[in-house]
Amino acid sequence: MSFLSKAARTVSSPRVLYPFLALGTVGVAYHFSTMSAIYNENSKTFKGDDKWVDLKLIKSYDLSSNTKHFVFATESDDDVSGLQTASCVLAKFVTPKGSNVIRPYTPVSDTEQKGTIEFVIKKYEGGKMSSHLFNLKENDTLSFKGPIVKWKWEPNQFKEITLIGGGTGITPLYQLVHEITKNPQDNTKVHLIYGNLSPKDILMKKELDEYAAKHKDQVKVTYFVDKAESNWDGKTGYITKEYLESELPKPSKESKIFVCGPPPLYNAISGNKVSPTDQGEVTGILADLGFTKEHVFKF
Ligand SMILES: Cc1cc2nc3c(=O)[nH]c(=O)nc-3n(C[C@H](O)[C@H](O)[C@H](O)COP(=O)(O)OP(=O)(O)OC[C@H]3O[C@@H](n4cnc5c(N)ncnc54)[C@H](O)[C@@H]3O)c2cc1C
Ligand SMILES: *[C@@H]1O[C@H](CO)[C@@H](O)[C@H](O)[C@H]1NC(C)=O
Repeated sequence: MSFLSKAARTVSSPRVLYPFLALGTVGVAYHFSTMSAIYNENSKTFKGDDKWVDLKLIKSYDLSSNTKHFVFATESDDDVSGLQTASCVLAKFVTPKGSNVIRPYTPVSDTEQKGTIEFVIKKYEGGKMSSHLFNLKENDTLSFKGPIVKWKWEPNQFKEITLIGGGTGITPLYQLVHEITKNPQDNTKVHLIYGNLSPKDILMKKELDEYAAKHKDQVKVTYFVDKAESNWDGKTGYITKEYLESELPKPSKESKIFVCGPPPLYNAISGNKVSPTDQGEVTGILADLGFTKEHVFKF
């Protein structure tokens, strides 16, 4: 700081220049604190070290009739999640009979966000983990472990990407849209094609519409619903071969298609994965349109 005060003393009009110098200092401090948040292992809740950590539920609220937004506190207020886009974590609870229930979930919060980690989770009838989650009260804890990197995004990795999702399958696709639009250096064009049962089932529509509005030349969002209301301005019906043929870039190294949704969506669009580590061949509509393994990633 002695350098700054010396510099300030030598200028003729310190009253005018002081605020400018002060702002510069804040900028430098902010930059370094962001860097240390990323590089200091101790400030990450998820270190990839195979340890379960108990996180406290701060709040949850409804997004649709069967889906909630959950906000958990990181271990310490200054912690970031430790996730990279696109990654998931494992959640675990132990049943009264002593068996472990473990399921993967994909955070939707910013990777640099401190103090909280957020999820969008759907409740399945009789679903073990989702029922447990929906019964959690404020300040209850749940064990988590991770992260598991699903696809490590690099800025400008492709000229354009197409994201095809259904229901809660939006979560890793949302991570990609968020990560790309928050980086002014990332010029990747994004087309999100997002299917749901009805307009009121569309998850995080407000956020998605904002990304599209703020980045008009970069981000396009197309909604498909099975059942529409009278004033619906999106598409109605399933995502068809004709539609994808007209919208998708031709198969090439410069573009990529990311798919995430329930099993019927995979079946129709890309084929299912064989296992978490085996993508399997591309089948379905994308195969009919000439896309193969190298053009498609199934989350
Ligand atoms: C990598 C990865 C990331 C995931 N991220 C998320 C996420 O961000 N948000 C989220 O809500 N879910 C996510 N899931 C799904 C999640 O892990 C669980 O599968 C889901 O919450 C159901 O678990 P459960 O214990 O409640 O149901 P279970 O007890 O496992 O299943 C009960 C019944 O629910 C039905 N069911 C379960 N899963 C599905 C499904 N996917 N489609 C249709 N029916 C089903 C079946 O009828 C099943 O018999 C992710 C899955 C993977 C593999
Ligand atoms: C949760 O914890 C906070 C802080 O410790 C407290 O203020 C709040 O009342 C608690 N909420 C419930 C429902 O117990």
